[in-house]
Amino acid sequence: MNALTKDLMKLTAIAEEDGNKNECYRQRLHLMPPVGWLNDPNGLCQFKGIYHAFFQYSPFDAEGGVKMWGHYTSQDMIEWEYQGVTLYPDQPFDCSGVYSGCAFIEGGEMYLYYTGNVKLEDREDYDYINSGREANTVLVTSPDGMHFSRKKLLMRNSDYPSDLTLHVRDPKVWKESGTYYMLQGARTKDDAGQALIFRSEDKINWQLDSRVETEEKFGYMWECPDYFEVDGVKVFSASVQGLEGEEWKDRNVYQSGYFLVDGDIHGKYSLSDYRLWDYGFDYYAPQSFETEDGRRVQIGWMGMPDCEEYSNRTTDDGWQHCFTFPREVFVKDGIIRQRPIREVEEIKILSEETENYLETKKYTVYEAVIFNIQKDQFRAVLSDELVIEYKNKRLVIEFINNRNNKVSCGRRVRYADMNTVTDVRILADESSVEVFVNDGEYVFSTRYYPEEPGIRIEAEGALIQVYELNISR
Ligand code: FRU
Repeated sequence: MNALTKDLMKLTAIAEEDGNKNECYRQRLHLMPPVGWLNDPNGLCQFKGIYHAFFQYSPFDAEGGVKMWGHYTSQDMIEWEYQGVTLYPDQPFDCSGVYSGCAFIEGGEMYLYYTGNVKLEDREDYDYINSGREANTVLVTSPDGMHFSRKKLLMRNSDYPSDLTLHVRDPKVWKESGTYYMLQGARTKDDAGQALIFRSEDKINWQLDSRVETEEKFGYMWECPDYFEVDGVKVFSASVQGLEGEEWKDRNVYQSGYFLVDGDIHGKYSLSDYRLWDYGFDYYAPQSFETEDGRRVQIGWMGMPDCEEYSNRTTDDGWQHCFTFPREVFVKDGIIRQRPIREVEEIKILSEETENYLETKKYTVYEAVIFNIQKDQFRAVLSDELVIEYKNKRLVIEFINNRNNKVSCGRRVRYADMNTVTDVRILADESSVEVFVNDGEYVFSTRYYPEEPGIRIEAEGALIQVYELNISR
């Protein structure tokens, strides 16, 4: 361990010790930083039975700063234990941030691949797109998920194609027919977003294999790419910056979504239209992994980078952002869907059950389930502020802002068009809501800061259930 690592450890311990003293709005079901800032999920995996969730972490500043990897573990993805910081920015090749990456499990070893970010500062004229930046691909291994090897530098910008800017990052590794593949997100010199695929026979030496591209330019940068097959369907996911025009005008500053892949992702393929993972305000940089029992689980950052439209009240308390609740990605009727992981069923306690109408002020952390919705009639109001409503073939989530932005912190309206609404699941924590519509075909995630609990649901003919969630945190 070098002297810088030691100092960063000490400073992190002090920040975590002194950190947030106000428990208000801290989540109970969702992962959040012990103190300071959190963004992307990294290195998600189940390894020797234990779930690992690493995260982009800046303990010193709730508005973000130099990134390191914080680490949580869990037996069931419900109760998580904080394990401290695993990767500090302590080497010349990652000194401006241990950026996002993945875990790959094989032969009883955990392989963590990440991007070492370097911002050079020795010249005035760096633009940090084509000059002044390094994006290094780095590997760390672990036999037990607790002790980690030295960092090994695998690739630098000169190993990437020369038509790219210096924006290349976020490795995601998988194995197919005996060969290892690694995706990386990239921005070309023509400002087109794309992903690179590298291949390797030994997980250490990588060669460029191919690229994932759209025919027409689709944004200027693809971050956090992911690729997996679920229920026989091939999915390529990317968080895209720079989408403009009519279709994107009522949406978030950046998007996270997926293309269905027809053919061979590293050979001849065609991509479907891009579809969003989530239609809410707060969702970015999702990453997926396969559980030991074969489920495809995805976790996103319930936040939005470079967002000027809205904010989060908890920055005043010294922390900001959280993850989404883990979701199972599955296919039904040929459609990609998401639902909260089934482990949540173990902690649900049925508290209210009624038809047509329900009103209560009892719960802050709960799941409301509404099914058999008749004639598309559905409206729910949470804490007298957040309206979730189906109208004119559109599922809308809208803040009424009675309390002068305090609950929404600037969020207004998001929507998705759909022909009907048959069922809705609302998963609410102290300061977030995730809404799953039509068996998870559409999902909406948002942070919110309710001043008092309250649910009012109108859904004629439907069965309405409210479950309290029994968690110790
Ligand atoms: C996405 C992202 C990644 C990067 C990381 C840095 O939110 O910008 O591309 O690796 O965050 O924190």
